[in-house]
Amino acid sequence: MRISRKMEHVHHALRLGQSGKHGFQDVKLIPNCLPGIASDHIALQTQIGELILSSPIIINAMTGGAQETEEINRELAIAARETGLAMAVGSQMSALRNPEVSSSYEVVRKVNPEGIVFANLGSEATVEQARQAIEMLRADALQIHLNVMQELIMPEGDRNFSGMLERIEAIVRQVGIPVIVKEVGFGMVSESAEALLDCGVQIIDVGGRGGTNFAAIENARREQPMEWLNDWGCTTSVALLEALEAKRSHTSQVSIIATGGIGEAVDICKALTLGASAVGMAGGLLKLLRSDGTEALIKRIESLHSELRLLMTAMGSRTMASLAEAPVVITGETAAWCTARGIS
Ligand code: FNR
Repeated sequence: MRISRKMEHVHHALRLGQSGKHGFQDVKLIPNCLPGIASDHIALQTQIGELILSSPIIINAMTGGAQETEEINRELAIAARETGLAMAVGSQMSALRNPEVSSSYEVVRKVNPEGIVFANLGSEATVEQARQAIEMLRADALQIHLNVMQELIMPEGDRNFSGMLERIEAIVRQVGIPVIVKEVGFGMVSESAEALLDCGVQIIDVGGRGGTNFAAIENARREQPMEWLNDWGCTTSVALLEALEAKRSHTSQVSIIATGGIGEAVDICKALTLGASAVGMAGGLLKLLRSDGTEALIKRIESLHSELRLLMTAMGSRTMASLAEAPVVITGETAAWCTARGIS
């Protein structure tokens, strides 16, 4: 049941695509006609928690758990290795329940022994399951995904969400590697981000609306769709500003990742300028991989890097830190949301 669901998610994600309404249209970058820097000196290196990444782009969690997903993970891992990107696997719970499918995840480490690899589980996981998932990949970090609305729309999904924070806190305190808590496309607001930071979480991926839509995907799988839930959640631009608000009021070192519909270098640049330390990309990269193959995916990631360098030059920002200091203008619905919520 679980295994066929993985491929259904892939098929529906590819078919439905990305809405592109991630809210970054409301964010305007400010040109700098006296940048005073050379493109060759731009550094794309960034840091999330204690991890140094050579690129601010992360191939975000998608799949594993069936033969066809093993091929997808292998090709994504080749692209990650060739471009120096960190990469997450999809939820490993299926492999913990059925070790026969572990190879569909392990392939990522096999293909990319020196790369940065993230394990992935849901918030129902125990500390012991977290340890097993990490060990399966010799993972550099563990992602814990939050997907309440997806579960609620799934007829076979979870209905009991008690104890989530307590389990996350126990995992953060005991696994000994960075833990990234992520939404899958419904976004996170400052109250949730603050609760996670209070539990010791140091890396949050806001996973906002505007890209892959798991409400639409689960509705496509339902006999009686609840399409009125397809626009549930907050956009990626809003979720990022909400999480940054939580970060501001927290004393510990915190990194925010922006995922959800990121497709173009300009989206990446806007997220980093607002204050994200990295961006995650999932459905768009999968679509390119399936339609045009691994070489095309590698070329696309290389283009995103060179286009990001171009934008950083035009803004006079040589590093991620200086990009985060650059001014932006926020308009439209994103600005209205921030005003209504008192986010400055
Ligand atoms: C996902 N995503 C996901 N996330 C997660 O934490 N565990 C998972 O198992 C999966 N599974 C999954 C399958 C498929 C086919 C896709 C496309 C995505 C969510 C993903 O990591 C990301 O948060 C969202 O897809 C939003 O990013 P994009 O796709 O808009 O770039």
